[in-house]
Order: sequence, then C-alpha cells, then structure tokens
Amino acid sequence: MTNLPGRRMCRFISVFLTAFVLMSAASLSAPAGAQEVTPDVEEISDGLDVPFVPSHADVLKTMFELTKANKDDYVIDLGSGDGRIVIAAVKWLGAQGFGVDLNTKLVDIANKRAQQQGVADRAKFHVRDIFQTDISKASLVTMYLLPDIVLQLRPKLLSTLKPGTRIASHDYHLGDWRPDHMRVVDSQGEERSIVYAWTVPAKVAGKWTWDIAFSSYFNAVTPMQADIEQRYQDLYGKMVVNGAVVPVRAAGVDGTKVSFTVTSEIDDVVVDQTYTGTISGDEITGTVRLSGSVKPVEIPWRARRQPASR
Ligand SMILES: C[S@@+](CC[C@H](N)C(=O)[O-])C[C@H]1O[C@@H](n2cnc3c(N)ncnc32)[C@H](O)[C@@H]1O
Repeated sequence: MTNLPGRRMCRFISVFLTAFVLMSAASLSAPAGAQEVTPDVEEISDGLDVPFVPSHADVLKTMFELTKANKDDYVIDLGSGDGRIVIAAVKWLGAQGFGVDLNTKLVDIANKRAQQQGVADRAKFHVRDIFQTDISKASLVTMYLLPDIVLQLRPKLLSTLKPGTRIASHDYHLGDWRPDHMRVVDSQGEERSIVYAWTVPAKVAGKWTWDIAFSSYFNAVTPMQADIEQRYQDLYGKMVVNGAVVPVRAAGVDGTKVSFTVTSEIDDVVVDQTYTGTISGDEITGTVRLSGSVKPVEIPWRARRQPASR
C-alpha cells in the first residue's frame, strides 16, 4: 500500500470501513461456508503495490457501455480483486473471460463467487502477475490499477492485443494515448470515478501505393502513393497525386478501419478523395469517394504497403 495518492488512500480507508461493517453484518447472517468469501480488505491488501479497492457497479456499467461490451466478448481483468468485473460481464452480458491477481486470497474469493453465482465455467481467476499474463485472447481488457502501473502496461497492450480490442481503465489514463471515450461516474455515497476507453489501433504507418482507374477525372490508370505516419489512432502524412504532393487530413484508424481525405487539383478540377477501408496485414481494401467540384462517385480502393516501410 506504499505511494498511495491521498485521494486513493481516502477511498481505500472508506472502502475498508464499509467492508468492515458489511463483514460484521454478513458474519451474523451468512450461511456456513459463505463467510470466507467476504474479503477482509485490510488483511488482503497488506504488502501490495496496488491495494484491493473494488470498483462500484456504476463504474462497471460505464466500462461496458463505453466499450460496447457484449456477449461475444472475451474479457480479461488485470488485477481482478474479488472478480466482480468478469463475473458482471458474464452475468449481465453473457460474455466470458478471466481475471488475474497476485493475491491468492482474492483469487480464491473470486473463484468462489463465480461458483456461487453459477458462472464458474465462463469466469475464471488465476494467481498471476499482470505483466506475465498472456492477454492476446482478449477482446476487452479492463483494469483498475495505479497511474504508473497502467503506463508500464501500455507497450504490452499495444503490442499484444489484436487491433480492435477495447480497453477500459478505472480512474487512470494511458498518458499521451488519447482516450476514445471518457466519462465521469458519480455513484451515490462514493468518490467520483473516471472511466477511460480506447480501441487498439492497427499499425498503418508506411508507404502505400495503389492505382485509381476512373477515366473521367484521372488518366485511365493513375498511380497513387501515400506516406503515412502514425501516433496511436491518429494518422498523418502526404500523398502524391499526379506528381503533386498533398497532405492527408481527417486521417485516423479505429481498430482496423482506416480513413483519410486528400484534396487535389487535376486539370483545374478540385477533387476530394475520401478513403475508407479495412487493413489486414499489408493490404487495405475499401472504397474511395470522389467529390468536390465533380459529381460524387464511389469506387473500389485497394492499397498495398511496402513491407520494409512498416
Ligand atoms: C484496485 S483493485 C481492483 C479490483 C477489480 N479489478 C475492481 O475493479 O474491482 C487492484 C487489484 O490489482 C491487484 N494487483 C496489483 N498489482 C498486480 C500485479 N502486478 N499483478 C496482478 N494483480 C495485481 C491487487 O491485488 C488488487 O486486487
């Protein structure tokens, strides 16, 4: 529990007091065997870098809403505590997944809760370090850790997760990786929380070439070339159209969906080319919409990347 910011410390203490009151009540009424499933927050968090502070149900709902979580999701909760996030994903959405936590007592509690709630076949919990966990199977990763820990996780999230995988983080952002969504959660009787959400972008940077065959505006077959740079989901760069260099704009990647626009002048005609497509390896397939001072038309688009330029 070292290096806890004051705000976190306050929440931790208040959670501890609440848990203590709930535990006292539960120990009077719980059936035999169920008592051990109630977490003793202080004892359980002792000696951990990140203490066990459970997320409120409103935070879970917001995580699922912002990431459009659904029954097809495979949810991995990094630092799963008492298992509430994965269990809720199974019970509320029909999803499946697992959680990992370094704390064996919490992992036991989470597995027992999953069993008691009849979802043990779809919600599993393992004693494992988040940094040693294979997260490649996830379609949704959730976490409620500390600022420096989520930042340390960022390279692993970006290099291991499939493009299109969503990430939701309670209270802590991923530094200069701009979140796609962010919402303040005001649960009654709780300190305010913030939920951040991102989608893992495909790697689009590199040199791309393609031809456009549309004789009304271009020569019969016009070769195109784009040099794309990437910063997370934002794309930058330039395109060469009929020998002229033009900037790409409105450029981005949402999972595997790539989009950008360029405006060029061809034979005194201003043409906007709006590209949208899906990237798979070194290929993008989609459409380009030609508009501007021409009658709008949409034609197929297929671009290839020079592998060495990635
Ligand atoms: C703030 S709690 C969040 C619990 C749960 N995810 C939730 O939102 O209700 C953080 C959890 O991360 C676990 N944890 C901290 N560092 C960890 C690590 N390196 N590997 C696995 N679990 C870790 C702690 O034991 C604690 O249970």
